Amino acid sequence: MSTSYQLDVGKIRRDFPTLKRDVNSGASLVYLDNAATSQRPVQVMAQITRFYRDHNSNIHRGIHTLSVEATEMFETARSKVGQFINAQDSREIIFTRGTTESINLVVNSWGRKFLKPGDEVVISELEHHSNIVPWQMLRDSIGIELRYIPMLDNGHLDMETANKIIGPKTKMVSITAVSNALGTIVPVDEVIALAKKQEALVLIDCAQSVPHMAVDVESLGADFIAFSAHKMLGPTGVGVLWGKLNILESMDPFLGGGDMILTVNMEHSTWAEVPSKFEAGTPNIGGVIGFGAAIDYLNDIGIDNIRAHEMELTGYALQKMSDIPGITIFGPDTAEERCGVISFALENIHPHDIGQILDDNGVAVRAGHHCAQPVMNFLGVPATVRASFYIYNTKEEIDALVSGLLVAIDLFGVKS
Ligand code: ALA
Repeated sequence: MSTSYQLDVGKIRRDFPTLKRDVNSGASLVYLDNAATSQRPVQVMAQITRFYRDHNSNIHRGIHTLSVEATEMFETARSKVGQFINAQDSREIIFTRGTTESINLVVNSWGRKFLKPGDEVVISELEHHSNIVPWQMLRDSIGIELRYIPMLDNGHLDMETANKIIGPKTKMVSITAVSNALGTIVPVDEVIALAKKQEALVLIDCAQSVPHMAVDVESLGADFIAFSAHKMLGPTGVGVLWGKLNILESMDPFLGGGDMILTVNMEHSTWAEVPSKFEAGTPNIGGVIGFGAAIDYLNDIGIDNIRAHEMELTGYALQKMSDIPGITIFGPDTAEERCGVISFALENIHPHDIGQILDDNGVAVRAGHHCAQPVMNFLGVPATVRASFYIYNTKEEIDALVSGLLVAIDLFGVKS
């Protein structure tokens, strides 16, 4: 495990006012729900305020000064996002409301145009609902087949079966890079290689990877990736679809309306060029501009340092938590195989009770099915407790999590 990274957590924490909060009459907040959403640093909030205070205007529409400034700030953010994932052309960055909308865009704009009954789309049992439900809706609407790569007991995908499932009828493989429920890092390179052997397109749900590890779309070999700003220090309501330019150009629009057209008359309309074709209506201008500041912040820290820090925290947590009586930790054994996500259960204590007791002690985690019910069904549990880490978390906070779990065990009188 890497110990040679540089990350000044004390300095980082000073940029996050929320982390200084007390909750429940005096407990210091320990925020371990980063897979659901991260906190935002003052730099991001300041940039959003700057936009609304000094430059507020609509974009791409006006010739007045404020509109030109707002457009420039918005398009600068687009370039920053593109550079962050090494996109070759910033037109390949489509702003959406989030990962969910990005996936729905591909399903509807690509899937409805290019898939026909009997074609197969391959997803996996590890997916978040946002990479299952839109494909099921498309299947029910146009008669495609939906096939699943199964998961294994160790939280990984069954790649042997993947090799059999991805075949000549496969037209799209849509798969997560990291399981939001278990933290499993999926071998997307292998999945992409299998898909490309069949000339299928590939969409990678990067909601849980882009914030935590280097993603380079140029070397990845996928056709689309989707992710959200709010899991990487940016605002809610801003997401990204990256797609290869020629594929985006071949697709139909997703939503119709202002800004996505070239011409409109009473009979028909023609479309603007990519990316405008996919950005109908007034976007979340302030949010996108704030996202640009989040990217600056992450670049200052360095994505490899972020990955190393999270791996260290995850290794520490796995080791400390494995000593807790009656605990089951789901997913891969080692920190190297995971992002900073640990999903677990305590014998005879409902996950929601654990979440409540942790909250009483200031520790914020998510308890539930994590929008990944097929994973829960596979594990044979209705829910898990999930702790998830980011740049500002510390080993002391993991100690606080462990102490909170021991309080829960004590309260519920579970014998070791
Ligand atoms: N997808 C988010 C999560 O995993 C909300 O919690």
